[in-house]
Amino acid sequence: MKILHLISSPRGAVSFSIKLGNAIVEKLVTANPNSTITTHDLTSSPFPHLEEVHLNSFYTPLENFTPELTEAVKHSNEAIAELMDADVIVIGVPLYNFGIHSTLKAWIDHIARAGQTFSYSGNGPEGLVKGKKVYLAISSGGVYSEGPMKSYDFTEPYLRAVLGFLGMVDMKAFRVEGVNMPDLKDQALEKAIESIVL
Ligand SMILES: Cc1cc2nc3c(=O)[nH]c(=O)nc-3n(C[C@H](O)[C@H](O)[C@H](O)COP(=O)(O)O)c2cc1C
Repeated sequence: MKILHLISSPRGAVSFSIKLGNAIVEKLVTANPNSTITTHDLTSSPFPHLEEVHLNSFYTPLENFTPELTEAVKHSNEAIAELMDADVIVIGVPLYNFGIHSTLKAWIDHIARAGQTFSYSGNGPEGLVKGKKVYLAISSGGVYSEGPMKSYDFTEPYLRAVLGFLGMVDMKAFRVEGVNMPDLKDQALEKAIESIVL
């Protein structure tokens, strides 16, 4: 099994989403001992925000490519090749201002490409990234899985929508919740790790 592990917290060893992501990866490896793991820290090696040159590289036919466009499309081509090659994608998701970290959004902007990861046919859009399993390791200061803040969570619903649009519909989310809440923070990680079911 080929595992792609994406990290999007800049907090390294103290990050809860990284710890939870690592716990998911460990369980996957225990269940599939011959697995290979590719880990990308999107915060230390970020994908560039989409600029005009990237968009031109996405939409220019190959025969009209310049050296500049060839360079610009590399990030996207490499990320898509790696994604297509993976069987399982584990994504660490720190909740920032009700949404995902901007480095994870930048990665998504480079993998969502018409003709490569989705297409439009007579039947509407079709996701081309098929047969993957996706695990989200979400970490948040408050509680969003239930209760009054549920509708403020734009991490899981957004990732289900955009990755689902690309074909990644087999997704499970696990959460370290309430890491800033005195009554919940001490048990939050342990509870999240216990909740992991592959
Ligand atoms: C810039 C920033 C924005 C945050 N926004 C929210 C928020 O909107 N809601 C919330 O519950 N927690 C918020 N938090 C708390 C984080 O979700 C929490 O610290 C989480 O554990 C971060 O993930 P990490 O431990 O993997 O770095 C924020 C933290 C930071 C640094």
